[in-house]
Amino acid sequence: MARIIGGLTTSHIPAIGNAVPREKELVNDPYWRDFFAGYPPVRAWVQKMEPDVAIVIYNDHGLNFFLDKMPTFAIGAAAEYKNADEGWGIPTIPPFQGDPELSWHIIESLVDAEFDITSCQEMLVDHGFTVPMQLFWPNYGYTNVRTIPISINTVQHPLPSPARCYKLGQVVGRAVASYPKDIKVVVLGTGGLSHQLDGERAGFINKKFDLMCMDKIVNDPESLARLSIHDLVREAGAQGAEFIQWIAMRGALHGKVSSIHSNYHIPISNTAVGVMILENAA
Ligand code: DHB
Ligand code: FE
Repeated sequence: MARIIGGLTTSHIPAIGNAVPREKELVNDPYWRDFFAGYPPVRAWVQKMEPDVAIVIYNDHGLNFFLDKMPTFAIGAAAEYKNADEGWGIPTIPPFQGDPELSWHIIESLVDAEFDITSCQEMLVDHGFTVPMQLFWPNYGYTNVRTIPISINTVQHPLPSPARCYKLGQVVGRAVASYPKDIKVVVLGTGGLSHQLDGERAGFINKKFDLMCMDKIVNDPESLARLSIHDLVREAGAQGAEFIQWIAMRGALHGKVSSIHSNYHIPISNTAVGVMILENAA
């Protein structure tokens, strides 16, 4: 049977997409050093665990979905996912492999559980997806893993509640556990931590709240699922609401997980960066 081996989290700031190709020169740069120091343990874990599939829970920022048509929950069912120019100057990179069979199994499970998701047989993936995949599978190593994008709207209100995202993750977790193929699956939650890109509070960062979230996501995710979107916006900034992607990821893991790596760094661009490995109980 398929098995979820754990969850990985990271922020997905576009500036990182430009820094990744220059990582070797930037590891000694005072601005980037402590940021890049958070990733080697994740890369080592990925190499050791050899997941076959990465389910990437993130938010599209206007590349594939725009304000005219904004699904609350969208899931890819394509054989391949390409990225494209989003206007940040991030180089386009080779495409990502899909896993249509597992995608459809998850889609059927979600609809059966009364989630009215949007299934996408074509889907461009933006920095919310590509930056984390490049950070965890560097040097195009991501081309060896199959991927399933799940995009949760954090761009246009109303956004789904943390509780709803947690439940969606739980259904994804049960769907994987009932998939008959003997594969290892890792679930990514990307976005956050605290940041606000515009308005009066542009540049807002809340270290205390971020560290509380990184603590509770391990063994008390339900307390985070009880927050409202307004709580998240107030405490983490308008774009800090991206934390719902982490909550959905956590829903897909078994009840008990161990945090085997965690790194917090502020800021990159306008954002607090949190990186974690949550290993699922066997
Ligand atoms: C930034 C952060 C994001 O999450 C994003 O999607 C775009 C920009 C930033 O801090 O620059
Ligand atoms: Fe974002």
